[in-house]
Amino acid sequence: MNRRQLLTIGAGLGGAAVAGGLGYAMWARQGASAWAAEVEAIRRPLTVGPGLERHRELVRYATLAANSHNTQPWRFAIAANSITVTPDRERRCAIVDPDDHHLFASLGCAIENIVQAAPLVGLAATPRFDPAGSRIVIDLEPGGGAGTQGLAEAIPRRQCTRSVYDGRSVSPADIARLETAGRGTGVETISITDRGAIDRIVAFIVDGNTQQIDDPAFAAELTRWIRFSYGEALSTRDGLFAAVSGNPVLPGPIGKMIFPLVFSAKSENARIVEQVDSSAGLMVFVSETNDEASWIEAGRAYQRFALTATSLGIAHAFLNQPVEVAAVRRRFADHLDLGDRRPDFVVRFGYGPRMPMSLRRPVEAVLAEAG
Ligand SMILES: Cc1cc2nc3c(=O)[nH]c(=O)nc-3n(C[C@H](O)[C@H](O)[C@H](O)COP(=O)(O)O)c2cc1C
Repeated sequence: MNRRQLLTIGAGLGGAAVAGGLGYAMWARQGASAWAAEVEAIRRPLTVGPGLERHRELVRYATLAANSHNTQPWRFAIAANSITVTPDRERRCAIVDPDDHHLFASLGCAIENIVQAAPLVGLAATPRFDPAGSRIVIDLEPGGGAGTQGLAEAIPRRQCTRSVYDGRSVSPADIARLETAGRGTGVETISITDRGAIDRIVAFIVDGNTQQIDDPAFAAELTRWIRFSYGEALSTRDGLFAAVSGNPVLPGPIGKMIFPLVFSAKSENARIVEQVDSSAGLMVFVSETNDEASWIEAGRAYQRFALTATSLGIAHAFLNQPVEVAAVRRRFADHLDLGDRRPDFVVRFGYGPRMPMSLRRPVEAVLAEAG
């Protein structure tokens, strides 16, 4: 091959790389702006419309709640004086959540948003659990006052912030506010800010994380809920979008190909250690009892904690590995001297940069027939 041919091939490859780079930049820019428009629409302020329009608005705010893997495992039935919430079991995650603890906790998060938001549309919301049907009926009456001042305003801004935080500590007064917000009927919060105590808990997080990532069934289930591209995320409007977790956005097939090559216990554990080191502390949520009703209560308590943190400008994110792997959970409970009580969640908190907001399915997709 002569020099001229070599230069021609080189120029061709260089041109393709530049064109590819420009193509990617344009693809990513278009995706990001479509994403931002959808995020804004789904998180717009509540409007007080006529009749059942107010109930639909409350359902929209309910869907903005935290929920495991962003599966949005819920159905809502609207009636004149109530909203009934039932689990959508087709969206359960059998591997990471075999007993449906996270599924019912996610319902609790959604219910708490309705309780907090109802006064904004002139209603008071009172949830009651119907164990026979594994459903929650939320009675709605004219009035208000059921919400805690200011928490509803935080609903569209709350996010699980998976960034590296800035290491600043949170004042004892604000930690006390977070502890109080995270308490519920039969639900306690334990805050941990001592570095030695945090490191001992990190060992449980790393143990649980290693066991999960080394389990091919866990990795397969997780991969099913990851949305690698804007297109995937915008068409399903559920799941874990790469950008929300600080990962690169890639065309779906490329993401699926690369993910197993880069997703390892070693790299994820290093990321967890960095994230916890940058946080001000950990909050562990603990329940007296271990059944559907208490998992819902724990979800409600977490959601109050999260809304309170948001209103105080404090970031937070779950690190639930020690409560998800049953064998680790038992040792973790012993370590915290919990006796028969169940540790529900582990959450880090602190100050740090916000991440892109996650999407939700539209209200029509989660409405069920009243029954
Ligand atoms: C019960 C429950 C368990 C969760 N576990 C984890 C977890 O272990 N790690 C994590 O990063 N996020 C966890 N999440 C957060 C969800 O992934 C998150 O709420 C969802 O993706 C929607 O994002 P958003 O909360 O920022 O709106 C959990 C959420 C709930 C309600």
